[in-house]
Amino acid sequence: MGRLDGKIALIVGGGADGPPNSGEKLSIGNGRATAIMCAREGAAVMAADLKLDLARETADAIRAEGGAAEAIACDVSREEDCRRIVDATVRKFGRLNLMVNNVGIALGGALLRTATDQFDKMYTVNLRSQFLTMRYAVPEMTKAGGGAIVNVSSLSAVIAGAGIAYEATKAALLGLSRSVAVRYARDGVRVNTILPGLINSSMVRREIGDREARVAPRIPMGRQGTPWEIAKAIVFLLSDDASYITGTELIVDGGLRAGEGVRRREDRNPATGG
Ligand SMILES: NC(=O)c1ccc[n+]([C@@H]2O[C@H](COP(=O)([O-])OP(=O)(O)OC[C@H]3O[C@@H](n4cnc5c(N)ncnc54)[C@H](O)[C@@H]3O)[C@@H](O)[C@H]2O)c1
Repeated sequence: MGRLDGKIALIVGGGADGPPNSGEKLSIGNGRATAIMCAREGAAVMAADLKLDLARETADAIRAEGGAAEAIACDVSREEDCRRIVDATVRKFGRLNLMVNNVGIALGGALLRTATDQFDKMYTVNLRSQFLTMRYAVPEMTKAGGGAIVNVSSLSAVIAGAGIAYEATKAALLGLSRSVAVRYARDGVRVNTILPGLINSSMVRREIGDREARVAPRIPMGRQGTPWEIAKAIVFLLSDDASYITGTELIVDGGLRAGEGVRRREDRNPATGG
């Protein structure tokens, strides 16, 4: 028995846009790992992505394991597409119970290195789209008797260093999620955010390359996380195991945030760590 048996899940950003790990055939990112794991737990999955071929790869991987999945193209910066992917999921599978907002991009840098149009695009893709998908999905979930949403934020919501627009949109996503969570708690719709730390995902392999050796020493657990570890945390929040959890944030970072103070102390006095 799976933890998501009989559920219908829409994974927005359910492709994986980047090269695979060496030795792996299929590239795995947070969105694709989540889609596959939702299916392994018994959900029927709609994988939505800007690139239809990436969404299809995800759906094919799920079907190859005997799961149920469909793929759909969308650009979540367009309101019409946010509505269409919800409608298409309901039309195909009969209802909508679960949604993961995984789309996230990183443009610009620090304050003076971020152009206005980059900031606008970040707002549209990283924040407005989650507002829109929830606007269309929540009424379907209440119709279905309840549901669960996980919005993928980032540790950058609470720690600086990843660029002003990324940090601002990922932080705002926490407020967006809390607002919907509280308003719809009595309708049985739970909304939570997940804050991944440094993850060896398709997005990172595409944008940065292999950063394992460089970043691992900073992380208390001594390594980057895997997309599967993000997916497991998301599936937990989607499942009834999290039935009393809403409006909150889950950091999945191998101790990175908790270890920041220790690192600062060691920087001051490497000999004693004090
Ligand atoms: N890897 C990390 O270290 C890390 C850390 C913190 C947070 N995150 C978050 O994880 C999420 C992405 O992880 P991933 O590994 O799945 O990355 P990914 O880039 O492989 O997957 C995201 C998918 O979203 C799609 N997409 C991009 N723009 C879109 C649009 N306008 N409309 C529809 N789809 C669009 C891409 O085509 C891609 O397939 C992001 O929200 C990112 O901010 C990642």
